[in-house]
Amino acid sequence: MKFVTAITGASGAIIGIRLVEELLKTSEVNLIISKAAFSVIAHETGLAWSINPVESLRDYFKSSRLCYHDEGDLQSTLSSGSFRTDAMAVVPCSMKTLSAIANGYASNLTARAADVTIKEGRKLIICPREMPFSAIHLENMLKLARLGVVVAPPVPAFYHTPETLRDAVDFIVGKILDQLSVEHDLFRRWSGPGGIKEELP
Ligand SMILES: Cc1cc2nc3c(=O)[nH]c(=O)nc-3n(C[C@H](O)[C@H](O)[C@H](O)COP(=O)(O)O)c2cc1C
Repeated sequence: MKFVTAITGASGAIIGIRLVEELLKTSEVNLIISKAAFSVIAHETGLAWSINPVESLRDYFKSSRLCYHDEGDLQSTLSSGSFRTDAMAVVPCSMKTLSAIANGYASNLTARAADVTIKEGRKLIICPREMPFSAIHLENMLKLARLGVVVAPPVPAFYHTPETLRDAVDFIVGKILDQLSVEHDLFRRWSGPGGIKEELP
């Protein structure tokens, strides 16, 4: 499968990075990272990718399935609906990018690729992160939800008894993969009051 993934400058960069890692196991990933996201990634993970993104991403992900697109490159294939993709995920999604997508303000490649995804009737998943949400943020999310966009905020669950931050992140990434119909074993599934499933269904 062929996915578009954007990492924007909201907190929770590790969620976007883990998602890309998982998708690359089976799929082509066309990745956009915003300028703000490079700063947040460096702050939250220590990964200094902004100086030479192409080389840094190649070294980190070690996958020929990864294709990096500069967020300013509006000539990119991702700008056109004629470039066929299966779905797009914006993880994490800042309130700025949420607003741009909700209002069709396609001034960078993430907003344009999302605009294309919506107009072509393809699946778009956004993982908006802010705390608390204002009415502006909620209205933008509602507008997108009514268009069929999946609004999947990075909210952890506790029924799978996470022990580490990694477990909590993997639960969120797993829920996004479920939306993309990509198989994974990132968390144990609830199987009723008797317990949780150890294996994939
Ligand atoms: C450490 C840090 C954490 C941030 N966390 C958030 C956040 O959780 N949500 C958000 O909407 N913006 C957050 N921001 C602000 C965005 O990075 C900023 O609005 C930026 O312009 C977003 O641009 P982008 O959408 O092009 O990445 C954060 C900024 C910093 C420096």
